[in-house]
Amino acid sequence: MQSSFPNTNQFTWLPKTLTNLTYQKIQQRESFLSFVYKAISRPLTNMFVPKTNPTTQFISTRILLEIEQRINQLGKIDWQDSQQGIYPVDLLFDNPWQNFFRYYPDVWLDLGYLRNLQVETLFDGVADSMRRRILAPLKRGLSAFSSIPPQQIKVLDVGCGMGQTLKFLRAALPEAALFGVDLSTGNLRQAKQVLLENPGELPQLTPANAEDLPYPDNYFHGTSSVFLFHELPAVSRKRVIEECFRVTKPGGVLTICDSMQLFDFPELEVLMKKYFPAMFHESYHRDYIQDNLVEHLEQAGFEKIETENHFFSKYWSARKPELVSSK
Ligand SMILES: C[S@@+](CC[C@H](N)C(=O)[O-])C[C@H]1O[C@@H](n2cnc3c(N)ncnc32)[C@H](O)[C@@H]1O
Repeated sequence: MQSSFPNTNQFTWLPKTLTNLTYQKIQQRESFLSFVYKAISRPLTNMFVPKTNPTTQFISTRILLEIEQRINQLGKIDWQDSQQGIYPVDLLFDNPWQNFFRYYPDVWLDLGYLRNLQVETLFDGVADSMRRRILAPLKRGLSAFSSIPPQQIKVLDVGCGMGQTLKFLRAALPEAALFGVDLSTGNLRQAKQVLLENPGELPQLTPANAEDLPYPDNYFHGTSSVFLFHELPAVSRKRVIEECFRVTKPGGVLTICDSMQLFDFPELEVLMKKYFPAMFHESYHRDYIQDNLVEHLEQAGFEKIETENHFFSKYWSARKPELVSSK
């Protein structure tokens, strides 16, 4: 079946205002598709696997408005970052539902793709916008190496999964040498397929545990990690941060993106503590939302730690000092 979605590049000739409006419309349609998916899948799940969904909780109008405002703000920042040249505007028109319609019904056999779509629907069609929020702090951090030719810049994505963040990194840093590690060889296979469909040199993909990265000390100018930390037990989170510190060059940057934490949006405590872990079988999420990653970053040796929130996600960016004190 032909895709009903526009191809990447299709809108770049439009005047800016029109492109922005088109982007907003597509975002609204993605949110709508996510809503339809949830509306259909929840009664079906209840019918076949009763009690899988936790009891519905009341969310006040004020919180719903706050969520809506956060989602709109996320769209605005995504647009602004593209206009500031942090990444090409084409990325905004890339959407995970595209292949659903193009390859229907075969998509049902592709578990990796379905898992991705699940993440996308969970976050109301804006998971990619949230992933892209690491690009601005990462590029700011990499500007410390502006005297180095762009081809010599090395960036590692830890827990790269099926390559979504690497795809954005490739678009934002077309000449850099990119690397990705993940525990799952299946996910890496998917990543290779995704990345081969995109322009630019294929990143080096390596199966490895992020707690024991297979790279020398001080190797990368930048390190990123997206939606990995909530999957890790507390002790591994600390260990992964220490490993990121070890492989990052002095003066280099680490950016982390993951789901928001309890103190970022306390009104959503029930959603974070019960709904998310139960629906998505994320056993370490409850511990993650109460963990202090700033403390782990400081203990590992990072400095200039900054945090930000966008919609339902949270970001940490940190710098490895030029002169690392020996511990
Ligand atoms: C939720 S996915 C996120 C993937 C990708 N970064 C994204 O944004 O879609 C988490 C990924 O982390 C990987 N992972 C989990 N524990 C890991 C570990 N200890 N070392 C390396 N990868 C790990 C999983 O295999 C999975 O691909």
